[in-house]
Amino acid sequence: MVETVPAGRFHHQRLDIRRWIPAFVSSHRTLFTTLWVFVFLSLFVWQRNLIDGFSFFGRTVTKPMPKLRPVAFNLTDFGAVGDGVTVNTEAFERAVLAISKLGKKGGGQLNVPPGRWLTAPFNLTSHMTLFLAEDAEILGIQDEKYWPLMPPLPSYGYGREHPGPRYGSLIHGQNLKDLVITGHNGTINGQGQTWWKKYRQKLLNYTRGPLVQIMWSSDIVITNITLRDSPFWTLHPYDCKNVTIRNVTILAPVYEAPNTDGIDPDSCEDMVIEDCYISVGDDAIAIKSWDQYGISYGRPSRNILIRNLVVRSMVSAGVSIGSEMSGGVSNVTVENLLVWSSRRAVRIKTAPGRGGYVRHITYRNLTFDNVRVGIVIKTDYNEHPDDNYDRKAFPILEDISFTGVHGQGVRVPVRIHGSSEIPVRNVTFRDMSVGLTYKKKHIFQCAFVYGRVIGTVFPAPCENLDRYDEQERLVKRSASQNLTDIDYDF
Ligand SMILES: *[C@@H]1O[C@H](CO)[C@@H](O)[C@H](O)[C@H]1NC(C)=O
Ligand SMILES: *[C@@H]1O[C@H](CO)[C@@H](O)[C@H](O)[C@H]1NC(C)=O
Ligand SMILES: *[C@@H]1O[C@H](CO)[C@@H](O)[C@H](O)[C@H]1NC(C)=O
Ligand SMILES: *[C@@H]1O[C@H](CO)[C@@H](O)[C@H](O)[C@H]1NC(C)=O
Ligand SMILES: *[C@@H]1O[C@H](CO)[C@@H](O)[C@H](O)[C@H]1NC(C)=O
Ligand SMILES: *[C@@H]1O[C@H](CO)[C@@H](O)[C@H](O)[C@H]1NC(C)=O
Ligand SMILES: *[C@@H]1O[C@H](CO)[C@@H](O)[C@H](O)[C@H]1NC(C)=O
Ligand SMILES: *[C@@H]1O[C@H](CO)[C@@H](O)[C@H](O)[C@H]1NC(C)=O
Ligand SMILES: *[C@@H]1O[C@H](CO)[C@@H](O)[C@H](O)[C@H]1NC(C)=O
Ligand SMILES: *[C@@H]1O[C@H](CO)[C@@H](O)[C@H](O)[C@H]1NC(C)=O
Ligand SMILES: *[C@@H]1O[C@H](CO)[C@@H](O)[C@H](O)[C@H]1NC(C)=O
Repeated sequence: MVETVPAGRFHHQRLDIRRWIPAFVSSHRTLFTTLWVFVFLSLFVWQRNLIDGFSFFGRTVTKPMPKLRPVAFNLTDFGAVGDGVTVNTEAFERAVLAISKLGKKGGGQLNVPPGRWLTAPFNLTSHMTLFLAEDAEILGIQDEKYWPLMPPLPSYGYGREHPGPRYGSLIHGQNLKDLVITGHNGTINGQGQTWWKKYRQKLLNYTRGPLVQIMWSSDIVITNITLRDSPFWTLHPYDCKNVTIRNVTILAPVYEAPNTDGIDPDSCEDMVIEDCYISVGDDAIAIKSWDQYGISYGRPSRNILIRNLVVRSMVSAGVSIGSEMSGGVSNVTVENLLVWSSRRAVRIKTAPGRGGYVRHITYRNLTFDNVRVGIVIKTDYNEHPDDNYDRKAFPILEDISFTGVHGQGVRVPVRIHGSSEIPVRNVTFRDMSVGLTYKKKHIFQCAFVYGRVIGTVFPAPCENLDRYDEQERLVKRSASQNLTDIDYDF
């Protein structure tokens, strides 16, 4: 339905102005001053426009949208109305269809101008650039009747929250190549509030849909935009290759926005996530793939570089690996990460039954600013898609290094909780100094951990680890790797 503004209201205002202007310019001096100010401001606006967008008397002169493909369309060419109430699904679909015909000619760009563009879920196409102007906002429709159901993901075997099908994502893509989603920091807004509420009240019969989900695709670039208030996970690249996510802001309330993970690289390889700000209601980043379905699907997440991020998570963790990791996770680097005002900073979580492996994980230059627990490895995160998982599928956790861990206001800097079935092997700590909230013993907590500390590490590391000096000469070998010193009460 289109809401109309009564015409009378504008009419009145114009009449008032007509009466007001002659009175104001009656004096010559006022007229002259007004003209002078006008000319000066025009010059100023003109100059500013050469460089950048400019906001003036509350009206925004938006930056021109660059042409990044041989053909660029305007969403309004397809009949869209950016009033926040018109449902524009067909306009998006028609635009995508037009672009799908341009693949051989270098593809097409869809410009979304300033406005509030309400839509139901739609699919993207290959060789496409979706460009969101400054002050452009794509709004997800809140009524779930508009959200199509899709089969469960093959590596999950079910919808994740419910058996059977799941809702698709607001912006979706499958089997694509060469997709760009970018802009002048325009926004894709899932309007998740109604979904979160219905989820809590158990009114939903299917798993909630992500905001943006790209599956079985390659050469994906997502930059210079804001993603906000997803119904479920925010950005979910699934079984994709060559994905770059740069300079993206991801926002959701830090409480009561259940499962609004920021980015979930799932069975993906060759991926870069950099220069992002993420503050959400679950993990900011979670690298995934799931139980017996994940084992049989067998698609690992690997070669992932995560750097220069500022993240916040009050409910879960800044950067997580797992708990779904059965397809395997390897060669992940996390560097220059700032985690602030959060429950946990970095976490690897798994459980018996997951199988798979997490190995070759490198953390470098981590800063924790007021986080409860800094580094967490948890091997009893028991949650399974159904009862058919293999109790004896023990995941392998090995070759994990932490170099340059700093910060302040941390309660438990390290909690590595291996077990006799899932020991954590070859862990290295080098150059660590974390300021603590409480000066207590047993805050560097370990169980079934094998590895070493090199040089000075503060607070004093657990007895499970071998000690080396700065020159990597052995100082003291540990005799108690299986020692258990874990205290969840602290
Ligand atoms: C898109 O169309 C709208 C409405 O016709 C217009 O205001 C806007 O300037 C156009 N934008 C571009 C980039 O062509
Ligand atoms: C998007 O494409 C997939 C695969 O073809 C299909 O299952 C889904 O229904 C489509 N979604 C929409 C909103 O058209
Ligand atoms: C990030 O994106 C904004 C617009 O969204 C742009 O102004 C800024 O220059 C970008 N920064 C980088 C480092 O690309
Ligand atoms: C983009 O917009 C978001 C949300 O309004 C804002 O928090 C962020 O700072 C902006 N990013 C840039 C680079 O301007
Ligand atoms: C869920 O299923 C019940 C029973 O079939 C139905 O009454 C309800 O409307 C459904 N809810 C949604 C959100 O589809
Ligand atoms: C990765 O994707 C980018 C962007 O589409 C492309 O320029 C680059 O060639 C791709 N790299 C590989 C190795 O295919
Ligand atoms: C993102 O913004 C930066 C700075 O304006 C620009 O250099 C870069 O090309 C933009 N990225 C894309 C994909 O447009
Ligand atoms: C590990 O991942 C990085 C990207 O982060 C890549 O450059 C490197 O080639 C990968 N190493 C192996 C052995 O695949
Ligand atoms: C470490 O990361 C912080 C951001 O968290 C960054 O400001 C700093 O420059 C990084 N240090 C190095 C040596 O790269
Ligand atoms: C232990 O892990 C490091 C990387 O953190 C790797 O370089 C080294 O080869 C591993 N050692 C063994 C014995 O596998
Ligand atoms: C530690 O536990 C492992 C099983 O995870 C066992 O093989 C090993 O013998 C134990 N070592 C000691 C010193 O108890």
